[in-house]
Amino acid sequence: AVGVIVAVDGPAGSGKSSVSRAAAAALGYDFLDTGAAYRALAWRVLEQGADPEDATAVERALDGFAFESAGDPAERWVRVDGVDVTDAIRTPSVTAAVSGIARVPAVRTRLNDGFRARLAAAEPGVVAEGRDITTVVAPHADVRVLLTASPEVRAARRAKELPDEDRSAVARSMAERDAKDSRVVDFLEAAEGVTTLDSTDLDFDGTVDALVALVRQTA
Ligand code: C5P
Repeated sequence: AVGVIVAVDGPAGSGKSSVSRAAAAALGYDFLDTGAAYRALAWRVLEQGADPEDATAVERALDGFAFESAGDPAERWVRVDGVDVTDAIRTPSVTAAVSGIARVPAVRTRLNDGFRARLAAAEPGVVAEGRDITTVVAPHADVRVLLTASPEVRAARRAKELPDEDRSAVARSMAERDAKDSRVVDFLEAAEGVTTLDSTDLDFDGTVDALVALVRQTA
C-alpha cells in the first residue's frame, strides 16, 4: 500500500518549510523539502563558476548531480557530491541564483522524477512542500494545501530569520523571487481542489495545528 501524501505549496516566507516540517513530525510522516533540491543544484552551478542564467550551463551542472537529504525532519542535512551544504544552500547568493536554474525545463523534469520516487516510497506518509507539489509533482495527493499569508506578514517573518538584513531589502528580494518563480509555476492561487490555509492571523503552532487537522480530516 502507498502512504498518505500531503502536498503543500506557497510563496516565499509563507512558513511552508517550518510548518510542513513540524506537521510531518506531529503526524510521524516523512518530510520532503523540494526547494532544498533546487537550492542544492543552484549551489553546484555557482560552485562550478557557471552562470545560473545560462540554461546550457545549468543543464551541464545536472550531469552527475548527486543530491542526498536525510535525518530527522527537525535536523535534516543536505549533501551534494558528498559535501554538506545544509547551511550553504540558505545563503543570499544561492537564494538569488535559484529562480534562474529552476526555470530550466530539464531541471524540473529531473528533480520531479526524484521527488515522485521519494513520495512513492513514503510510509506511513509524507508532507512534501514547494511551489508545484499540488499541481505538477503530486496532483493526486491525498491532501493538497496552499499556505499563504499577507506580503507584509511574510516579509516580517523572513526579516526575523535574517536579522542582519535591511527589512525593505528582504521584502523586495522576496517579491522579486515570487514574481520570477510564479512565471514558471502558479502558486499564488489555489488550483481546483486545493485548500487555502491563510496563516496571516495565526501563529506558528496555530498554523501547524490547522495543517495537522486538515490531514486528519481528509486522509
Ligand atoms: O522553498 P524555497 O525558498 O527553498 O525554494 C527555493 C527555490 O526553488 C524557489 O524560489 C523556486 O525557484 C524553486 N522551487 C521550485 N519548485 C518547487 C520548489 C522550489 O521552482 N517545487
